[in-house]
Amino acid sequence: MTFLEFLFILLISYYFIYFILWLILDCNVELWYNTYFGLPISSMRGQVVWVTGASSGIGKALALILAKHGVRLVISARRENLLELLKKDCLDRANGLLSEDDILVMPMDVLNVSKHEYYFERVIKHFGHLNILVNNAGRSQRASWEDIQVQVDRDLFELDVFSVVNLSRIVVRYFLEQPNRRGHIVTTSSIAGLAPVPFSSTYCAAKSAINAYLNALRIEQRGIDVSIFCPGPIATDFLKEAFTADPEQMYGKSTKGQKRMTVERCGTLFATMIVNKLDLSWCGLFPVNFLAHASRYPGLAKLVTNLMGKNTLNKIREGKL
Ligand SMILES: NC(=O)c1ccc[n+]([C@@H]2O[C@H](COP(=O)([O-])OP(=O)(O)OC[C@H]3O[C@@H](n4cnc5c(N)ncnc54)[C@H](OP(=O)(O)O)[C@@H]3O)[C@@H](O)[C@H]2O)c1
Repeated sequence: MTFLEFLFILLISYYFIYFILWLILDCNVELWYNTYFGLPISSMRGQVVWVTGASSGIGKALALILAKHGVRLVISARRENLLELLKKDCLDRANGLLSEDDILVMPMDVLNVSKHEYYFERVIKHFGHLNILVNNAGRSQRASWEDIQVQVDRDLFELDVFSVVNLSRIVVRYFLEQPNRRGHIVTTSSIAGLAPVPFSSTYCAAKSAINAYLNALRIEQRGIDVSIFCPGPIATDFLKEAFTADPEQMYGKSTKGQKRMTVERCGTLFATMIVNKLDLSWCGLFPVNFLAHASRYPGLAKLVTNLMGKNTLNKIREGKL
């Protein structure tokens, strides 16, 4: 065998193994690698992390796993009672690593951007500093493209884009004032922001937009770590409050019985991404994970989307395949 033939076989084997990993893993290859060989979540012990949208779902799962490893937390959302319950659960999970003062319950409507500065000051007053902001609060959508009222586009962008950008700007300015000019901005985006899915056009656009804002930040401020986490379908209650085509209506459906990744697994992958400061990660059960990989290659993405069509893609998205 010539050296060139050897190189060729090596290359083919590499892509073959990579392709198999696309099919069998439940997240991107880099994130999976870091779950075994990256920094452990426990190396974040003592850091201060602010999680928005922590009262349920992915944000709650993330807070619980971080607390278990002794990470100090600011937990925010609108439902204060759920945040208080979460604080108790976090202290139980921390098993002595955290005390009452290490978890700040801070009820907050992220849409109230004029109060973002006030909330940020409260965090600094309580802990003296902030290491990581996790923008997780958000809502999804189910609606046909042509039916959506423009007020829904506006409302969804206010929540999933502008509130995130405004809060992140305040925190980035604070990071840049620190002697090392460093810090970490993390955001829950979605696979829908990487590869468009049917019947959620405003949501796809909003998550793509937030990805673009954050990718631009990464280029401008190289000292700031920027992590974009893109889950596929996760077993949370988020369809209940999902936007529709009408600003007065919520989708109101449950995800029960659908094939979705557990929120605990999602939380663990999310925390692994954060501690390893990965730029972009995604997770989802087969075939969602495969579709997310394919979305990174425009030609392949187009082929797969055309072959599947909107109905199959929608079934995958709703956990029915
Ligand atoms: N579940 C999935 O399949 C999936 C897939 C991809 C991406 N995501 C993203 O993951 C994030 C979390 O969603 P989830 O699935 O965990 O759903 P969830 O359980 O409904 O959580 C949404 C969180 O956002 C908070 N929130 C909503 N509006 C808010 C507001 N105006 N101000 C403050 N907090 C607000 C909610 O808290 P309060 O109601 O207490 O305010 C709740 O804690 C979202 O950004 C979503 O787009 C989810």
